[in-house]
Amino acid sequence: MIETNANKLGLDSDSKSEDIVIIENKLRPVTFDDFIGQEDLKKNLDIAIKAALKRGEPLDHVLLHGVAGLGKTTLATVIANGLGVSLKLSSGPALEKPGDLAAILSNLTSGDVFFIDEIHRLKPVVEEILYTALEDFAIDIVLGTGPSARTVRLDLPHFTLIGATTKLNMISSPLRDRFGSVFRLERYSPNDLCKIIERSAEILGCKIDGEASKVLSKSSRGTPRIANRLLKRVRDFVQVHSGGDLIENEITKTALSELGLDDLGLDYADRRLLEVIAHKFNGGPVGLSTLAAALSEDLRTLEDIYEPFLIQLGFLERTNKGRIITARGFTHLENVSK
Ligand SMILES: Nc1ncnc2c1ncn2[C@@H]1O[C@H](COP(=O)(O)OP(=O)(O)OP(=O)(O)O)[C@@H](O)[C@H]1O
Ligand SMILES: [Mg+2]
Repeated sequence: MIETNANKLGLDSDSKSEDIVIIENKLRPVTFDDFIGQEDLKKNLDIAIKAALKRGEPLDHVLLHGVAGLGKTTLATVIANGLGVSLKLSSGPALEKPGDLAAILSNLTSGDVFFIDEIHRLKPVVEEILYTALEDFAIDIVLGTGPSARTVRLDLPHFTLIGATTKLNMISSPLRDRFGSVFRLERYSPNDLCKIIERSAEILGCKIDGEASKVLSKSSRGTPRIANRLLKRVRDFVQVHSGGDLIENEITKTALSELGLDDLGLDYADRRLLEVIAHKFNGGPVGLSTLAAALSEDLRTLEDIYEPFLIQLGFLERTNKGRIITARGFTHLENVSK
């Protein structure tokens, strides 16, 4: 039994409206068979789950990391289903006080999975409580204040914590060390994304031909959430322009270009970042804050949202002196402006 409260908890950070959350949930795989790709990770998790079930013990705590939209929350659901236990969801920012965490932990049933999204955003006072909870399945609660204060130890059910983060480097080592397994989710291959797109199309009740799903997969930045979002936008386009339900190659390309996406899935903002470095700063190096000012963009947004994919494509480099655009980045800009 899965208790989700994605809306309240804001688990889909870039899917604000309620209907988007509902559609996302509809497309979200619930079993390992539905969960496409990430084969090595799935193999290791499968063994860990089978061993835990065989021993009749809770699964060791799991930390999942990887960029947004790769399936961390989805995997937590899949793991809880595989174990046949309940899943409780929360997030780092939602757990404001030690009491918030203590209340959830003491209400778990033995074997339950407790999922903390954005675990890197836990406050230190809350994180400290988690240390003993993870290691000893107990928490120390301070009752009263001043000289009459005393500590009472509260035993907890043996649960499994699944932590998810987009920023592994922001997890303190005492917390990281308490996870039995740490898994990194990788960007998906175009082949896996095609399978995800075809599965989603079926759930959404539309048809997509093989070529069109290839085009969509290439523009999805290796990310299932983007693949699903593009599929929905292209489906809108097809329904308005052709009135049908079949998504074909040509109309997919037209829809993507109307959305301002090039064949690698870079949008106007990504290209503008490259163009500003190329033309305003002669290819760089340019410091991040100067770049942010030139683009009128928030520093963190540049660093966390735009840069990682451009770096992965080999279009941008972070150097000691600042950001530089690479020869490949220049070539891409030339190709899209043709
Ligand atoms: N392996 C997969 N197979 C099929 N669909 C997937 C897979 N992984 C993710 N998805 C789809 O992508 C959407 C986004 O995944 P999810 O919310 O789990 O990502 P996330 O890593 O938790 O992102 P965030 O860091 O923003 O919380 C899901 O709703 C699901 O539909
Ligand atoms: Mg998530």
